Amino acid sequence: MTRGVVILGSTGSIGTQALDVLSHHRDEYRVVALAAGRNTELLARQAAEFDVPADMARACADEPEVLAELASLESVDVVLNAVVGFAGLPATLAALQNGKRLALANKESLIAAGPVVAKARAAGGGEIVPVDSEHSAVWQCLRAGRASEVGRIVLTASGGPFRGRTREQLREVTIADALAHPTWNMGAKITIDSSTLMNKGLEVIEAHELFGVGFDRIDVVVHPQSVVHSMVEFCDGATIAQLSMPDMRLPIALALGAPNRLPEPYGAIDWSTLGRLDFEVPDLATFRCLALAYEAGRVGGTAPAILSAANEVAVDAFLGGRIAWTEIAAVVEEVLSEGAGTADEIGDVLEADRRARERASVRALTRGAV
Ligand SMILES: NC(=O)c1ccc[n+]([C@@H]2O[C@H](COP(=O)([O-])OP(=O)(O)OC[C@H]3O[C@@H](n4cnc5c(N)ncnc54)[C@H](OP(=O)(O)O)[C@@H]3O)[C@@H](O)[C@H]2O)c1
Repeated sequence: MTRGVVILGSTGSIGTQALDVLSHHRDEYRVVALAAGRNTELLARQAAEFDVPADMARACADEPEVLAELASLESVDVVLNAVVGFAGLPATLAALQNGKRLALANKESLIAAGPVVAKARAAGGGEIVPVDSEHSAVWQCLRAGRASEVGRIVLTASGGPFRGRTREQLREVTIADALAHPTWNMGAKITIDSSTLMNKGLEVIEAHELFGVGFDRIDVVVHPQSVVHSMVEFCDGATIAQLSMPDMRLPIALALGAPNRLPEPYGAIDWSTLGRLDFEVPDLATFRCLALAYEAGRVGGTAPAILSAANEVAVDAFLGGRIAWTEIAAVVEEVLSEGAGTADEIGDVLEADRRARERASVRALTRGAV
């Protein structure tokens, strides 16, 4: 029997790679629906290629409710949420409430609304399989032992394009510099998040939500080659790591097929040319966003939602040329310092997101004018 898949964010980096994976598995997976933001031309081409009817290929940047509608379709077994940002939250909740497998690339929804997402998962019986390469790696490493035997999770970070730079050197970086990621080719928002290490900070919170491990037991290590995608250290000191060349099709394929692996060896390593693997500690004083994310995670409640919303606004302001790269962390820090509340209900999260965006926009304007 074929499994029905909906790809939300089909025109993006993850979405297009997911369709590439699915093009090799047309007998096992049926693309039931596609959703994108504004790229109607590519969306139409994808719909034609995968026989998706026109009314099931939706450009819905201005209709946020469509993502949740598509994620709830009866004919859908797997929802790949590859939309960028907080806009992905309704789809994450709808998929889980309706008992679907959620192949989750859209980390922002889980970070902003962890407890609400957990409730939706429990109520609807849905499951989350991570697409983020680090969490996919952890998910794979966890198969090597019992949950009670986990000592700590070690997330690897490439360090981004500015690894090793001083605060002084970072004052002058341009948008093009920040978009030039050394190992991954991704959408603009996550690429900027990688340059500030906010992406790793968001992933620390994501790991906490996915695997129920406390923040004191989630470490980050910089690994510039992006070959070790993350590790789990067990209570007897054994560390299990997952290695492959950087290729997002591997975690995407696993999220679709889990617990089975699909047969294409995406990212298989050629050991004769691999060379060395390096590891170093992250510079939290220079890359403040990672420290801020740990802080927000530990505070809990709406703090992660505030962190993520303020970051979205700040990144947008940077990409729009309105603030300097160094101001991204400053905007997030200022908004975060205004305090957080409880995040038990979706209303709490929506309100925290709205207010954080408002405050971050004002902060970005003020900082941009300096
Ligand atoms: N790229 C990676 O390698 C990677 C790795 C790990 C995790 N992730 C996560 O995966 C998610 C997607 O990342 P990406 O790099 O694929 O981003 P991207 O290339 O910018 O693609 C984003 C996709 O979301 C769509 N979209 C944006 N706003 C939307 C809205 N309001 N409603 C509906 N669709 C909307 C875009 O549509 P249009 O372009 O048509 O407007 C596009 O299809 C992010 O949460 C990111 O953190 C990505």
